[in-house]
Amino acid sequence: MRILSGIQPSGALHLGNYFGMMKPAVELQHQGEAYYFIANYHSMTSLFDAQERRKNTLDVALDFLACGLDPSKAVFFRQSDVPEVTELTWLLTTVTPMGLLERCHSYKDKIAKGLSPNHGLFAYPVLMAADILIYDSNVVPVGRDQKQHVEVTRDVAIKFNELYGTTFVIPEPRIGEEVAVVPGTDGQKMSKSYGNAIDIFGEEKATRKKIMGLVMDSRSPAEPKPDADKNLAIQLLKLVAPSEVAKDLEHRLRAGGLGYGDLKKALFEHYWSYFSTARAKRAELLANVSYVQNVLAEGAAKARIVARKVLDRAKEASGLN
Ligand code: ADP
Ligand code: TRP
Repeated sequence: MRILSGIQPSGALHLGNYFGMMKPAVELQHQGEAYYFIANYHSMTSLFDAQERRKNTLDVALDFLACGLDPSKAVFFRQSDVPEVTELTWLLTTVTPMGLLERCHSYKDKIAKGLSPNHGLFAYPVLMAADILIYDSNVVPVGRDQKQHVEVTRDVAIKFNELYGTTFVIPEPRIGEEVAVVPGTDGQKMSKSYGNAIDIFGEEKATRKKIMGLVMDSRSPAEPKPDADKNLAIQLLKLVAPSEVAKDLEHRLRAGGLGYGDLKKALFEHYWSYFSTARAKRAELLANVSYVQNVLAEGAAKARIVARKVLDRAKEASGLN
């Protein structure tokens, strides 16, 4: 089984990225051949600062390795180090109906949020399809917001296979239902671009402040709260605290007697200790950046061998070779 996923270097990684994509990806690396990459070409659709892209790319590499990506198990690389993917993108654009892209929520959401609609932003899912198809991927671990893009990939692959003969493996999205959408500090989907994110490796004081600032309602601590399971701090606690601890706090909130301040304090403590090993690992890696660069270079060399083979297969099938 081949597993593939990517993450954009468009800002600091947060709990949504971790629970929605990185943690499942790290778990899957033991179950097959995993290919994970930093989607720096994709980041060009919405980030226009070269220095920032370079810095974010190193940060994503550090974060992912600190969170358990094991380069002896998974192939880890930068998207642009395998330029074959852009050539395959062209082949795929010619079999991608405009309507399919026009329907993509992610594109519509980004426009609604004020991003200017450049062609790359519109064609984004075709590059993502090339990412997935060029490694003959079977399984794609992502958060729910990316499901539609994997469906576009399937449609495009099926169309190409029908026109030119079986060329591509048809991939499946893998979405952990319990963490499909991690809520941000405002209760909406946590996202780098919505200003509602709790970073995985956020600075201690600032993150404590962010968590203590989570907005709750005005009910008194003594009042029972039958809707305790909907409470934002409880939802986040379920991710970072042992399940019996989260259950106990939920129970106490429901029964009445637990104040929101104490609940948020518990959330911060569990968040902080959940990532303590990874935090130490990240500091070690930061002191050895050349090791990280090396991991990415070796990953790219391995990834390129597979990419070349699949691209040649597609060129042969479509009469280009
Ligand atoms: P962002 O929305 O913060 O820019 P990305 O689009 O770069 O995040 O997403 C990277 C990965 O993290 C994707 O697989 C995406 O589905 C997942 N992800 C992002 N935000 C969340 C969230 N709030 N809940 C679950 N998964 C998420
Ligand atoms: N679009 C994905 C995101 O923003 C990142 C990505 C690019 C990706 N190519 C991919 C994810 C291929 C999975 C597979 O989250």
